[in-house]
Amino acid sequence: MLGNFTYCNPTKLYFGKDAMRGLDEELPKYGKSVLLVYGGGSIKKNGIYDSVVQMLKKHGKTVAEDGGVMPNPTTDKLAEGCERARRAEPDLILAVGGGSVCDYAKALSVSVYCGDDPWEKFYRRWEEPDGRIIPVGCVLTMVGTGSEMNGGSVITNPAQNMKIGHVFGEEVFPKFSVLDPEYTFSVPRYQMVAGFFDIMSHILEQYFSGTDDNTSDYVMEGLLRSLIYSARIAVKDPTDYEARSNIMWTATWALNTFVAMGKDTDWEVHMLGHAVSAHTDATHGMTLAAVSPAYYRLILPYGLAKFRRYAVNVWGVDPAGKTDEQVALEGLAAMEAWMRSLGLVMRLSELGVTRDMLEGIADSTLINETGYKVLTRADVLAILERSL
Ligand code: NZQ
Ligand code: ZN
Repeated sequence: MLGNFTYCNPTKLYFGKDAMRGLDEELPKYGKSVLLVYGGGSIKKNGIYDSVVQMLKKHGKTVAEDGGVMPNPTTDKLAEGCERARRAEPDLILAVGGGSVCDYAKALSVSVYCGDDPWEKFYRRWEEPDGRIIPVGCVLTMVGTGSEMNGGSVITNPAQNMKIGHVFGEEVFPKFSVLDPEYTFSVPRYQMVAGFFDIMSHILEQYFSGTDDNTSDYVMEGLLRSLIYSARIAVKDPTDYEARSNIMWTATWALNTFVAMGKDTDWEVHMLGHAVSAHTDATHGMTLAAVSPAYYRLILPYGLAKFRRYAVNVWGVDPAGKTDEQVALEGLAAMEAWMRSLGLVMRLSELGVTRDMLEGIADSTLINETGYKVLTRADVLAILERSL
């Protein structure tokens, strides 16, 4: 039975080849001062920086810049950004980049005036913001996280070997997001396919929970089929607009809170992946790919009916004459074959993990209680060992 919920998604999206029209429409709604946040410089190579700056100039904005946001943004970078933002006093934070830049912009938006240590307040104690929040807008350049239409913000504290996400409320969602699929054409292949698996993982984290009949599960099966189909095209031709635009849209729906409504949701693969990233700084989607096969094989007996349904409805496994377990395992094998065909990382050792790191990664793994099995420490170690 569907659980109780309130649903509101306040982010306005501008999608398509002329999505930059969104910036033209949105900028007049905010004051003069804009903090332009971006990553390691890809936007200067592919021309997106120039288009954004041109638009900011057209609207007479005073622009301060906060570049150099790294993949897996850190607490140190956040502290530096807060200083910069306090000087610039922005009326709008404009994030131009992937999930890391968008997540960082959201963290900044609640941290600049929070009067506390943001890491402790938002990421360790999971408190809600109670100070001034600076509005965030987003120009997305890399697809996967869904950060363009959600309140998620993941920050890494390297000193503590912890990477933690806070899911903020509606007031922290981007006010608007510009989604031009062509902006993603320049994403390197490794990052592109990591993003594809991040999308799949977001859907599976929500799909593999609960045993009730839930409309969201049917929606997710459709999203998965679209992703599987388009990803096969996009790896052959990354400039195939139809495939890339479908994937961009799927990514947004995978994690804009809609399919989670009325469901428990799991998120344990992300807890494992974040722990791996905290110790290696590895690419988010690849950490998920490396641990997913072992995780799903371990929890399969506890959610067998759903794994069987996944095999049949998503991977087209023919169940005739087979046990439920055989069907379910065939589904996972099909998923793994698809993963390998995309060139995803299938082993933690490829991400720099060595056996002597496994205890430390287990220490950094948060345990959720809403999946088919609450993992013990021995389970976590077994998954890491099998994924090595
Ligand atoms: O830094 P730049 O120069 O921009 O280069 C980036 C970066 O090196 C590059 N890139 C992005 N767009 C590009 C491009 N290169 C060429 N052309 C373009 N158009 O790609 C690299 C990766 O970017 P990043 O933003 O780190 O990737 P992604 O979008 O996967 O974001 C990952 C972060 O998001 C968090 C992850 O944990 C990780 O920290 N997540 C956020 C979530 C959320 N907000 O809900 C949920 C996710 O599960 C995830 O945890
Ligand atoms: Zn993710």
